[in-house]
Formats: sequence, structure tokens, C-alpha cells
Amino acid sequence: MSKNPLIVFEGIETSGKSTNLKKTIKYLKEKKIKYVTFREPGGTYFSEHLRSLMLNKKSKLNKKTDLFLLMASRSENIDKIIKKNFTNKVILIDRFIDSTLAYQYYGMRMDKDLILKMNNFLLGNLKPNFTFLSVVNKKNMLQRLKFRKNKNKYDHFKYNFYNKVQKGFLRIANKNKSKYLILDSNKDSLKVIENKLINQIKKILK
Ligand code: TMP
Repeated sequence: MSKNPLIVFEGIETSGKSTNLKKTIKYLKEKKIKYVTFREPGGTYFSEHLRSLMLNKKSKLNKKTDLFLLMASRSENIDKIIKKNFTNKVILIDRFIDSTLAYQYYGMRMDKDLILKMNNFLLGNLKPNFTFLSVVNKKNMLQRLKFRKNKNKYDHFKYNFYNKVQKGFLRIANKNKSKYLILDSNKDSLKVIENKLINQIKKILK
């Protein structure tokens, strides 16, 4: 597909998204493939500050302010990380544009056209080459969330909210199947998921 692709890891809380990202990093390290990775919100020094403004437990910022912080964080990441690296490194992102559609539109019902417009405004011709979507069921999610130590402002919604967000992610993925792989920890063992993930990474890097 591409020597230096932009690969995104998406999914709701406790879905295994970050674990799948870590496994990908381990594989790239073993193969001595150059990569850069960051998370959203967060990323650059400035974007990490925006992340803590938005997500710290005491934050009383409203959801519109959160949306602008997310976009500001993304704008810096595109400029300072993605554009600087996309010709010579694999770029791995822990959450990106689909998270905004899934959380702010499918979850919070904010203005979908506005979100799409802002994402297009920031990305221009840039597009993720591939997205891994990790999914989790209700029982596992609630159990894993209960044991999570450092909870942030977005770890306190009711299950119904996360369910809407996950359904949103699935809709996005199912609309563009050639660019998404769904990794389902309810159906497959960790080993099977890892095999699917790494096989897909090999295909992407071909
Ligand atoms: P995480 O670091 O555990 O993935 O948490 C980040 C939180 O931020 C998560 O609840 C999803 C939320 N978020 C949005 O609501 N919209 C976005 O566009 C992004 C990138 C994250």
C-alpha cells in the first residue's frame, strides 16, 4: 500500500486500541522500521497541554470548548508531527478524525457537518491509509473500566453513551471496509487478534 503510511487506532475505552498500537510498535521495532507515534488529544508539547485542559477530572469545560481544543490539538499535530514525518516514517496515531465523529457526533449529537468541515479544513489532502477499530462488549467494558486507575473526564459516561459511540465507529468502518479492520476481543483470543493485526500491517507496508 505505502512505505510510510498513516495508520490510526480507534475504539472506545477499554477496547484494546492502545494495546494493539503497542503490539504494532513492537513489530516495527523488531523489523527496524522507522515510525513516529502520538495520541489525540495530545501529541505535541502544546497539544498535551490541551489534552490535560480537556480531560482532567476537574475540567468544567463544556463540550463545544472540548471540540475546539480537540481541533486545535489536531492542527498542531498535523503541522508539527505528520507533515514533518510522512515522507520518511510510518505514522501511528492513537485516535484521530473518526474519534471526533464517533464521540462528538454519534455520542453527543453535535453538528456533524461542522465536524466534517473542520476535519477537512485541517487535513486537506491528507488521509489515513488504514484504521484499526478495536471493539469490546458491555460486560468486559464495564469490568475493565471499574479497574482503571487513572480515570479522566471522559471515563465517567454511562454505558449507553459508549454504546452509541461504538456503534458510530462501526458505521464509519463499515462504510469503507477496504480501509478498516475490526479487531473484536469478544470473538477472538488475544493471539488471534495479534495475528490479524500484524498480517494487516505487513499488507499495508508492502
Ligand atoms: P484515551 O486517551 O483514553 O483514548 O482518552 C481520550 C478521550 O478523548 C476519549 O474518551 C475519547 C475522547 N476524544 C473525543 O471525544 N474526541 C476526539 O476527537 C478524540 C481524539 C478523543
